Amino acid sequence: MNNRVAPSVLGLRHADMRGKVAELIECGAELIHFDVMDGQFVPPITFGSQLIEGLRDLGRTFFEAHLMTLTPDRHFQAFADAGCQRVTFHAEATPHAHRLVQALHDLGLQAWVAINPGTPVEAVRGVIDIVDLVLVMTVNPGWGGQEFIHSALEKVRQIRSWAPEIDIEVDGGIDADTLSLCKRVGANVFVVGHYLTKQADLAAGLRELVGLCA
Ligand code: DX5
Ligand code: ZN
Repeated sequence: MNNRVAPSVLGLRHADMRGKVAELIECGAELIHFDVMDGQFVPPITFGSQLIEGLRDLGRTFFEAHLMTLTPDRHFQAFADAGCQRVTFHAEATPHAHRLVQALHDLGLQAWVAINPGTPVEAVRGVIDIVDLVLVMTVNPGWGGQEFIHSALEKVRQIRSWAPEIDIEVDGGIDADTLSLCKRVGANVFVVGHYLTKQADLAAGLRELVGLCA
């Protein structure tokens, strides 16, 4: 279990996406987090698998599709085909989490499961032995740049007590301070959107965060 920073592209203008993702990969990002929103599970619509596919040639860095979508079982395949190695679906979005994890594993992908701030940790208990990572949302999904929700820390602590070896990702409102709080209770993968993309020097921003989570 190693600590990682996962830059989110949500705060980037689409016109800048290719250049900025290339920059993040060049300066050592181990994982790029793509926020896919369908206008149903959450109000905004962001982008689909084609955008991710168009960036796949930039490098071998892991791509994570964070599916804030209803019916993830119907469209995970497109993100696999686009070159994502990690697919995150929401526990709230499917009654078939266990089957979806199996299907992702059959494709050779990691299966990551997310829960919203209002969802109790028990929602992932039944799949905790088979998923590769649990994502604890630290804001309500849908928008970048929101304030960190502190009650999520207790959920991270609880999941860590159930599964000492599992990867736990946090997403939303992560900056230098909240990253450290999350790390202290057992999170080890930190999605960072606006805090990073608003930095004039992306490489320096990423280095700072990687240093904090070392
Ligand atoms: C929120 C998304 C996050 C978001 C994080 O719906 O899932 O990944 O981009 O952005 P910040 O770090 O700005 O909260
Ligand atoms: Zn996300």
